[in-house]
Amino acid sequence: MEVDGVTKRMRLDKMLANMGCGSRSEIKTVVRQGKVSVNGLIVKDSGLQIDPKADDVEFDGERVRFRDIVYLLMNKPQGVVSATEDTRERTVLDLLKPEDRLLQPFPVGRLDKDTVGLLLLTNDGQLAHELLSPRKHVDKTYEALVRGTVGEADRQAFAAGVTLDDGYVTMPAELAVVRTAPGGDEDPGPVSEISLTIREGKFHQVKRMFEAVGKKVLFLKRVAMGPLKLDEQLAPGSYRELTDEEVNALKTHRNSGKE
Ligand code: URA
Repeated sequence: MEVDGVTKRMRLDKMLANMGCGSRSEIKTVVRQGKVSVNGLIVKDSGLQIDPKADDVEFDGERVRFRDIVYLLMNKPQGVVSATEDTRERTVLDLLKPEDRLLQPFPVGRLDKDTVGLLLLTNDGQLAHELLSPRKHVDKTYEALVRGTVGEADRQAFAAGVTLDDGYVTMPAELAVVRTAPGGDEDPGPVSEISLTIREGKFHQVKRMFEAVGKKVLFLKRVAMGPLKLDEQLAPGSYRELTDEEVNALKTHRNSGKE
């Protein structure tokens, strides 16, 4: 909406529709009823050109805050794919309320269908591009349950870099073992609870790193990306807007990212 620092003007009904106040025809009706004001004056023309950032718009008694960029923090559940559309599977966008889809946010990076946890959705293409850039090395922290006893040898292997199935050698990653539970009589063996921070985002990277040391990831959850932490108050499948502090932290982080 902003070109060289100048905010573009737009139709009042378009602005209200984009902010989720209703369809254009519904909005037209509400405007005709005298329930919409711009800078304190009731307007009757829903096609009025306004400055959406500077003008003070009230719709049916409520101030309508304009935004054209949206940042959503989701706790992705299992069973949905991190895509904008898919012919067969449910996507993370299907979990958004219709009004939150209006600004066309998309997931920043991918989590596997069975991976849960922190997923950022935004329509800020520049920020997304920079967070995903392989040159920026944004930290991503995962918690996982891994079949077997994860130990010091694995920690050292991940710190040095392991060779994935396609020959790629991973960048140094930090592995910490939280605990290892021994298998019971019926269990197929011990399971380790770990935390792993990686600085790149190859396809199925965490699972393939464990495969490289002969182990299988049973459960995977992303808990942080750069300065952004998973909000544990968010139930799986729910989401909220980023706070201003979180947006600022992400923007600062991308500028300080290592090239
Ligand atoms: N690594 C994986 O293996 N899967 C994910 O979803 C994310 C990182």
